[in-house]
Amino acid sequence: MAWYLESRAGLLIGSAMSDEGRPQTERIANLGEPSGGAEKNARPPIQIRRAEPADLKFVDEIQRACYPAATQWPLAAFLQYEAWVAVAGTEVVGFILYRAVAPDEGEVLNLAVAPAYRRRGVARKLLQHVLECHPGSTYLEVRRSNIAARKLYETQGFEVVGIRPGYYRDPVEDAIVMRFRSC
Ligand SMILES: CC(C)(COP(=O)(O)OP(=O)(O)OC[C@H]1O[C@@H](n2cnc3c(N)ncnc32)[C@H](O)[C@@H]1OP(=O)(O)O)[C@@H](O)C(=O)NCCC(=O)NCCS
Repeated sequence: MAWYLESRAGLLIGSAMSDEGRPQTERIANLGEPSGGAEKNARPPIQIRRAEPADLKFVDEIQRACYPAATQWPLAAFLQYEAWVAVAGTEVVGFILYRAVAPDEGEVLNLAVAPAYRRRGVARKLLQHVLECHPGSTYLEVRRSNIAARKLYETQGFEVVGIRPGYYRDPVEDAIVMRFRSC
């Protein structure tokens, strides 16, 4: 996703609001290998809810675990933009960060899922949730080499609309610009 924050600061909207009465997240998902046995087989259902301030340390851990595929946004961005988390039981297992730029246009700024929870439909659920919340056009950037994310976006109806050569830093890489348009 976008690596450059400051130039967009003037367009900030949305916030990571706290909802009353939600269960407190107690710990982050295992960031390493999937756990085995009954714990994995139990697979608590994934729920999507707005990120709360208490979630941010877990979001940050997931984001760090996903470097460099996921842009390393400062935690302050999660309070300034629209942040949602995927929760399995009491564990934060993924997040999505969205910014609206017009009533019918916005962009996904970041999306990541803890390694132990991948290929379980978590990212698809996060993405679909945001797309349903924001009809219209949704843009995103993705590293050219990020085949997993590009495949995810393609299967969800995003199409390639441009390339930004050398857009990403550390390491330098082209960005593929994709757009989703709801009917
Ligand atoms: C990309 C990422 C968010 C996908 O999360 P996920 O929860 O594992 O994705 P899902 O389980 O929802 O996958 C949905 C579909 O995306 C595609 N997909 C996801 N991961 C894939 C992979 N490693 N290889 C190929 N296709 C993949 C598949 O079509 C998949 O459907 P399927 O499992 O039925 O085949 C996750 O790998 C991740 O966090 N990567 C690091 C951070 C990152 O790259 N973020 C995106 C920045 S632009």
